[in-house]
Parts: sequence; structure tokens; C-alpha cells
Amino acid sequence: MLIDKMRAALGAVSIPEPSKDDPIVLDKNAKLNIIAWGDPQISFISPLRSARMKGACRDLANMQGKADVLMLLGDICEFGKRAELMMAGEIIEEVKDTFSHFLAVSGNHDIRVRAYRPQLERFNGFIKSVDGGIAGGNEHYYFSTEINSYKFIMMGSDSTAFESSHISDEQLKWLDGEIAACGGKPVFVLNHQTLDRTNGLPVTWLGRGDWRGSVGKQSDAIKEIFEKYKNVYFITGHLHYGVSKYNFEDYGAYKALSLPTVGVLNHGDFGKNGQGYIISVYDDKIIIRARVFADGEYVDKDYPGAYFEVPVD
Ligand SMILES: [Fe+2]
Repeated sequence: MLIDKMRAALGAVSIPEPSKDDPIVLDKNAKLNIIAWGDPQISFISPLRSARMKGACRDLANMQGKADVLMLLGDICEFGKRAELMMAGEIIEEVKDTFSHFLAVSGNHDIRVRAYRPQLERFNGFIKSVDGGIAGGNEHYYFSTEINSYKFIMMGSDSTAFESSHISDEQLKWLDGEIAACGGKPVFVLNHQTLDRTNGLPVTWLGRGDWRGSVGKQSDAIKEIFEKYKNVYFITGHLHYGVSKYNFEDYGAYKALSLPTVGVLNHGDFGKNGQGYIISVYDDKIIIRARVFADGEYVDKDYPGAYFEVPVD
């Protein structure tokens, strides 16, 4: 079985232990503490991806406090295979005691070579295989949930797409209503791809093409919705770009946080493996901090893209 081969391959990789010198210490006074990772892209083609995420998970095992949310921003796997998703689930499940809720959105790699509906059911099965996993229904990828009275909106493509997402009119209308219902309270919108010309595009997609790297044709329509509100946090992955000046952009009404990859290689000047962000939410501010989880170290606060304190409007 493929999963057995993947387990054996991972077992043969030596995974460096993250440092315990500066463990994550979660602030109990925060309303929400979130661990946010992009693109594990687990696959039978490389056990190193599994090893990097496993290293990052070991950092969570050293954490002081329990995170409210562990979130993965798509491209959980390379080909959407059952064994790849199982492997991802197994790695996360090993540290299930370190978080209360698990959220994941689908990325282009998760769905692009698969029939839409069966893959949606497979993907939901993956989410539910993790303790605390919150999945939507088997009609479409988009759904919302509330955690500690904050809303999390999970977006997802409404048809099979190779690189972008197709966000239907129905989903756009639903998105608008979901954000409106928050009444200005911070809301977290999760989608695999960012908006066109944000988070450093096209530089962060290595300069290729106009729309490439972004959600695609519905980018402007999504932006128009976000601009009607405030305290909208749009969290994405897909770019595989290490911590840099591009990862967090404040557009006033909405804030765009693009996560590095936790499993694959990161582009840009900061190419360390196993990067991600920790988000701490308070009544009056949101603190966003970059960490190299696989090494057990925060990125220096002064490094571009490493640390933000954003007031709640
Ligand atoms: Fe992607």
C-alpha cells in the first residue's frame, strides 16, 4: 500500500529536533491563539515534505499553552491522493493535544486532477480524521464556523481548476453575507490563493503572468466585497514565499496575510524550511508573528514581515 511506503520513507529521514530554547508561549489573555501554516504539499514523491511538517509539529509539542486553532491554507498534498492526505492527517494527529480546533482549505493541488465531488468528500474525510477538525458539507468547499465567538470563513473552488480557483456568484454572495453578519468584528477568511497584485504578486509568483499566483478571475469581485467592511483578515498560501515584506499587507478594510510553506521549499531571501505564523487575537489588536517552527525559533522581530501589531478598528 502506498501509505505504508510513505510511512517507511518518512521513518528513514532524520528530522532535526527544533530548539527548545525559545518555545512558543501562548498568551492566555488572548481571545484566540492561532497557528497558521501554508502548503504542506505532502506527497509520495518526497518524504522531506512530511519530515518538514513533522519537525514543525515537534515545535508545537514543546509549546506552552494550547492553541485554539491549527489552520492549513491549502495544498495539503500534491496529487489529492488518499494516502497523501492520510499521511498529512497522521502527522498532525500526533500533536492533537496542542490545539483545540483544526481548519483546512483546499488548494489547487488537492483538487486539480480529481473529480470534483468525490474529492470534496475525500478532503472532508481528511479534515475529520484530525481531532478537532471542522469540515463543511459535501456540496461545496465553502462553509463557515465560529470559534471563541470569532467567525472563520473557509472559501474554496466551485469547480476543478488547475492553478486558480473558481469562485461562483453563489459563493461570492454568501461571502458578502457572512462578513456582513460579523458587524465589524474581526473575521478570518481563509482561501488558498491571494488576490491579484497583492502579497507581492507577480514577484512572489516569480514574475510569471498577470493573474498567476492569485485566485484568478474573481479577484476583483472578492476585493470589492472586502472593501465594504473592516477588520477582514484574508489568510492565504500557495506562493511558497518565505517571510518577507510581502507576507502581510494592510489594505485598511482588509488585511492580506500570505503564509510561507511549511512543507516545500520557500522562495525569496528567507528560505528556511518549516515556516509559518502565530496569530494572537485581542479585543483591541491582533499580533501576527513569524516563526521557523521546524527550527523552534521566532524570526527576528525587526526582519521584514516578521512582526505586526494591528489595531482592531
Ligand atoms: Fe497552490
